[in-house]
Amino acid sequence: MGDFRNVISIKDFSRQDLNNLIKEAIQIKANGTKPVLKGHKAALLFFEASTRTRMSFETAARNLGFKVSGFAGKEGTSVSKGEPLIDTVRMFRGYGNEVIIIRHNLDGAARFVADNIDVPVINGGDSATNHPTQTMLDLMTIKERFGRIDGLKIALVGDLKYGRTVHSILQALELYDVEITLVSPRMLAMPEWRIQDFETNTKRKIIINPGLDEVIQAVDVLYMTRIQKERFPKGAEGESEYEKVSGIYNLTAEMLRNAKPELAVMHPLPRYKFNLELGMDVDELPQAAYIEQAANGLHMRTALLLRVFGKGFKGRNQQTVQQEKLWKNLPIPDGKKQGKHFVYKINNGTLIDHIESGKGFEVMRVLGLEEYDKTAVVYARNLNSSQFGRKDVIGVQDHELSDEQLSKLALVSSRARVNIIRNDKVYRKGTVILPYELRGLIECQTLKCISNPQNFEFAPSIFYTEQQKPLKVRCHYCDTPVGREEIILK
Ligand code: NCD
Repeated sequence: MGDFRNVISIKDFSRQDLNNLIKEAIQIKANGTKPVLKGHKAALLFFEASTRTRMSFETAARNLGFKVSGFAGKEGTSVSKGEPLIDTVRMFRGYGNEVIIIRHNLDGAARFVADNIDVPVINGGDSATNHPTQTMLDLMTIKERFGRIDGLKIALVGDLKYGRTVHSILQALELYDVEITLVSPRMLAMPEWRIQDFETNTKRKIIINPGLDEVIQAVDVLYMTRIQKERFPKGAEGESEYEKVSGIYNLTAEMLRNAKPELAVMHPLPRYKFNLELGMDVDELPQAAYIEQAANGLHMRTALLLRVFGKGFKGRNQQTVQQEKLWKNLPIPDGKKQGKHFVYKINNGTLIDHIESGKGFEVMRVLGLEEYDKTAVVYARNLNSSQFGRKDVIGVQDHELSDEQLSKLALVSSRARVNIIRNDKVYRKGTVILPYELRGLIECQTLKCISNPQNFEFAPSIFYTEQQKPLKVRCHYCDTPVGREEIILK
């Protein structure tokens, strides 16, 4: 989380952090708030529609004594003139604001802002990726109702594809011993990688069951969601997609007849009045938890602001990158170069052997060899290989490439071997390992990602190497994991 006061993604928080916040919010709810942060300044930059998140933050901030400024919706701001996000934010920082609370329609917007501003940033929702403060108040509501979170059966229902609230709560629930059921039409299913993340991190299986009636009777928490029509593709295609799924899970009081009496029906709200996914008649039932849930937003966001201006958070999954190893030695049998082809004539420099046939050009590009003097670089395509059938080989005369430069090779090739040649002998032989942080190398293909060049927000590409074999890297902003074959190099 870098700065331990930022609130960007729920995956940055430890169980202890969340439990502390819940405890503090419940205390605030009971005892009220004093203006202990009088005179501080908070900016609320809501580029997307909001009632609860914005107003609860604003009310919380005012109760604590903050001076609040900002806007609700990008209409009327210079965003409509084509201003880049970071300029808008810098301006609010320039006016002396000490915390930026932001909601934006691009994935990773809050992360990008936090990377570029010297005050804490709180994410009030970024596209379909994160809504951490919603999750915190959701957990608070569950804890209040049941006295615990562990041991519960929780169903997430509705738009699990575009709904950021369910993406965040799923990540938080990795930290609690709960049974999760996902209920959605196939078209709005939870992205496969999010299910895999949960199952890998917890060694627990998620249940998938589109049958709402059956699920209602089995669970303790029914977390309903609105179909996020505004995130569907624009135009006729999106309209027809929406038609197919609208009204598919419309919960009514009648459907809750056989539910457990202690069941909690939750919903981040708003509900959609033209095709209610949550019937008005549910409001009267003891199971309806969503009015309380929304009210809890105020208390949780008060607790959050106090933490951000106080002790901060401990954090989860802090990657401590020690001295990184970028090279793995291989034995050098007799120091002799093996091949007959011209490319092996290099007597001083670097020889990259066993590249997958056809990938040589990509290797040249990622290593920046196109910049070298043409006569220094030798490229042999589709040579015979006793081990692999076919291979490409690249030789760079008189240049010993550094481990750092060579490590990028692993983005393209899984089997290349590198030989450093000195005086016609193999001096060093090995395979390369990708560094943890990859800057400026990969183009994120997620359409709504802030780092996607098509969005013109100038967020530098940053990916992290999560796994070397098979290679898996993950975007810093939108969290999407990418395997070697899907990587698009910049
Ligand atoms: C949600 C949101 O904006 O993601 N609302 C909220 O913050 N309470 C859910 C929604 O809009 O459906």
